[in-house]
Amino acid sequence: MKQNTEMMHHHLKYGLAALALSFCAAVWPKAQAENIPDLFLHSGQPLNGAWKSIIDPYDSGFYDYRYSERDFSATPSRAETFYLDVQPADPGERVEYDFDTSPTLEVPGDWNTQRRELLYYEGSVWCRRTFTSPAPANGERAFLRFGAANYRADVYLNGRKLGVHIGGFTPFSFEVTGRLREGTNSLVVRVNNQRSKDGVPTLNTDWWNYGGLTREVTLVRTPAGYIADHRLWLESEATKMIAGWVDIAGGKAGDSVELAISGLDERLTAQTDAKGRANFRFAAPTLQLWSPEQPKLYDVALSCGTDRVSEPVGFRTIRTSGKQILLNGQPVFLRGVCIHGEFPLQGGGRVKNAEEAKQLLLWAKELGCNFVRLAHYPHTEAMTRLADQLGLLVWSEVPVYWTIDWTNAETYANAEQQLTDEIRRDDNRASIIIWSLANETPVSDARTQFLTRLAARARALDSTRLLSAAMEKHSQTNAPNLNIVQDPLADVVDVVAFNQYTGWYDGLPDKCGQVSWEIPYNKPVFISEFGGDARQGLHGDKAQRWTEEFQEDLYRQTLPMLDKIDGLVGFSPWILVDFRSPKRVLPGVQDGFNRKGLISSEGVKKKAFFVLQDYYRKRAEQSPH
Ligand code: GCU
Repeated sequence: MKQNTEMMHHHLKYGLAALALSFCAAVWPKAQAENIPDLFLHSGQPLNGAWKSIIDPYDSGFYDYRYSERDFSATPSRAETFYLDVQPADPGERVEYDFDTSPTLEVPGDWNTQRRELLYYEGSVWCRRTFTSPAPANGERAFLRFGAANYRADVYLNGRKLGVHIGGFTPFSFEVTGRLREGTNSLVVRVNNQRSKDGVPTLNTDWWNYGGLTREVTLVRTPAGYIADHRLWLESEATKMIAGWVDIAGGKAGDSVELAISGLDERLTAQTDAKGRANFRFAAPTLQLWSPEQPKLYDVALSCGTDRVSEPVGFRTIRTSGKQILLNGQPVFLRGVCIHGEFPLQGGGRVKNAEEAKQLLLWAKELGCNFVRLAHYPHTEAMTRLADQLGLLVWSEVPVYWTIDWTNAETYANAEQQLTDEIRRDDNRASIIIWSLANETPVSDARTQFLTRLAARARALDSTRLLSAAMEKHSQTNAPNLNIVQDPLADVVDVVAFNQYTGWYDGLPDKCGQVSWEIPYNKPVFISEFGGDARQGLHGDKAQRWTEEFQEDLYRQTLPMLDKIDGLVGFSPWILVDFRSPKRVLPGVQDGFNRKGLISSEGVKKKAFFVLQDYYRKRAEQSPH
């Protein structure tokens, strides 16, 4: 492409500046992407809004013409290395990009629904935000926190690499103490949402792979010693003993940590150990337990030195007993619905704020739900915190979906990291009762080993919640009406959950009246999906697929079928709202959407919505929870 002489001249003339810059890169090691849960509770400088963006389908900002990563170049080309974010030093200098004059993208938000031409774009997009930041007070630390970025984020500050994060649905941060400039800072993020076989999720999903800085970006400042993480839980609804710990980062052993719970008039102090952890355990005899009927939250305030954070927390217990799930010691029936992290109105796309999250949960409440399955990946912080407030129990899941690369060690590490970050982000949410490890994964030894390891990790991180996974049922050719659940993973999890589509993928709705079940586990049984597509407004005979009447009839026939299942503790039909999926191409019906919603992509309720609402009203009258 280029004459080496031209390259030499270019480097001579402009390489020196690049050399100076890269010299700094060398002395400024990359920060590791971290997940520091309580950064979310510290006040910060929001870096949301309009970010300049460069769409880079050939990734030429990341790879040079020899396809080697520019990150590794000791003298990155000013002309083509986007993360340097430079302007021509003089009229003659060749710089082949310019963030200042580039179009913008809103953050938080996916890029696919912001520009028509990007609807199905998968690849790299460079996003740049400049911001000013006051000089740090003495000893103060600073972090750049991202709520999530799908899928891979390469993050640069002031022309230097901070690090990389992989995984589209969990928070991450980079410490930038001592790296901020007084005056204008340049934050550049290469976001790439290309799917890969070894990814989590992998190549094939029935949802659209929205890309971008999909959740909030914040510059967070903390004192030198700060509250990094904490965990509080109710040991027993009988003793009302509360236990917990607080982790102080950058502190020293013996630091005094105070825990105050207003409404309980509790004010306790504990000292940190050598690892910076302060442990608490105390009785709260007057404690009001959290439940969907009474989602009681207490304001929990933590302080250490000059640092102080607080958040509303509910206290409840959850466990299984035989084929029952006990919430605060009482059997509970989970009146659920599945929800994707997508909001149908205002242009659609990934849920980008608390208002959209709230609307989805209010629709679930209107349906009569006390439970939501947040599919198939960790949803926003706002979603789980609103579930605490609104009194909705939650199933939270990592995107270990369909045919993951089970024998690939990096794929396992990626899945485990996402699970770890999910649990560490939300382990104080009273609403979350189930961590789901996977969805519809084909039974094999490699798969079961992978998921059994993941289960052990989840239990090590959190022994106070239940584990499950959306498994599958099958039937034998000689007994098509006998639905069997036989999965070694069912021995590992606490709740035996499976997806079943009798009447949609398996026969017609009338089949519901003919089936029987074989589920040989002395554990609670939960139906994690059922349903069928209907185009809202398409009406006809109930035998006519894709009509509202067909979907309505399917629900009418499915509910009594499920009621017959021994050990049934609830279900979550697929799905609350129609959602975008490139797998769904039927013209005039699907048009790129999975239409199994009870509410259309225009926010209009379908007939089946009212069938389920009626059923849940009756169920609610029958049981206390
Ligand atoms: C599967 C899967 C969902 C999918 C649904 C469907 O069970 O878990 O992600 O969208 O079925 O086929 O509509």
